[in-house]
Amino acid sequence: MEDLDALGRLLRKHREQAHLTRAQLARRARISASFVTYLEQGLRRPSAAMIARIAQALGLRPDQQRELLQSAGYASPEEIAQVSGIQGILEEIAALSPPEREELIAEIHRLLGRWQELRAKSLRKVVIPVAGWQPRLLSPSQLGQMLRPALEEIVTAGLKEAILVLAPGRPAPQIAPPKDLKVRQIVQEPQLGLGHAIVITQGLVGDEPFAILLPDDIILEDRARPLRRMIALYERYRCSIVAVTEAEEAADFKNYGVATLGERLEEDLSWVEALAEKPRGREIAGLTIVGRYIVTPQIFEALQATPPDPNGELQLTDALSLLLQRQRIGAYRFEGRLFRVTPIKMLLEALIEALDDQQPGRLERAMAITKNALQELGRLRA
Ligand code: G1P
Repeated sequence: MEDLDALGRLLRKHREQAHLTRAQLARRARISASFVTYLEQGLRRPSAAMIARIAQALGLRPDQQRELLQSAGYASPEEIAQVSGIQGILEEIAALSPPEREELIAEIHRLLGRWQELRAKSLRKVVIPVAGWQPRLLSPSQLGQMLRPALEEIVTAGLKEAILVLAPGRPAPQIAPPKDLKVRQIVQEPQLGLGHAIVITQGLVGDEPFAILLPDDIILEDRARPLRRMIALYERYRCSIVAVTEAEEAADFKNYGVATLGERLEEDLSWVEALAEKPRGREIAGLTIVGRYIVTPQIFEALQATPPDPNGELQLTDALSLLLQRQRIGAYRFEGRLFRVTPIKMLLEALIEALDDQQPGRLERAMAITKNALQELGRLRA
């Protein structure tokens, strides 16, 4: 009911500024005085048309009217007109036969309704994939350690439900879920990549925007960010958002998703122009994707339409690229310190390679790599 309270306060402020009593405003807007009282007390949700009528009676400017509509969760007429160039659609409608026209109008109604619904939905859920081969190598208590800072970040961001995607046949991670956070689990089988890990959560997530947190990207300081900031940005722009950071070195590009940015909207937010998963080549420029995302529910359709990569895995970045053709995506630039577990992943990859290698000295090499990997894990624990 919070938004109705905000509407009520705003309405009252404008009425007082216009030096009108409730009865006077009611008369001008041709509504009852008790209805004005209910509205100001946040006890009724007026229709968008009713708000426009009251705004007119109050003599509000267009920007004030927009603010009033927004405080009740409605889009302003300009915003509605912006949605997929509705003017062009109207012209097309005029040229259609009556049955076609009706069908199209019904579709537009449905879409606008969906859009308003989406605007009104707040973020409650986060998906945490921990089924990759790297977490699979960790013990339940190590997994629990890796998840601890992630859960802290989630709770600080105000999210209410975490969905853990686990590897099959592995004991569940040892975690003590913070109170106020519901933790649900789902097993990913078969394991067909990060995108696939997200697809299988559709039933648990439902038709609402949600966050994705890859717990092997650990935020070292100021854990409230980036998720909390990304949620605030989502609430302002209502679009999917990926977190990005400067690559430490050019060679990094082949280990991460890479985003090229366009117009800057805020100090820490730009529109994404293009996305590529682990691109190779010298000419690559952009920022690397950090494991924090906010996605609109259309990501599920995009994932379903995304072909697997050459390794047969479904990539989240590829699905976001597809989504980018339909919706804008923001890039949140994260400046804080990050600990990426990827070095451990590379060490373990190297270890497997060394053990497979039949050359002499393979055990010594494997031992050295193991030592390094353990050191990295020690840092992670510290
Ligand atoms: C995943 C994503 C990649 C992103 C990275 C962040 O890769 O596919 O785009 O940059 O997480 O950690 P993974 O680490 O699973 O290979």
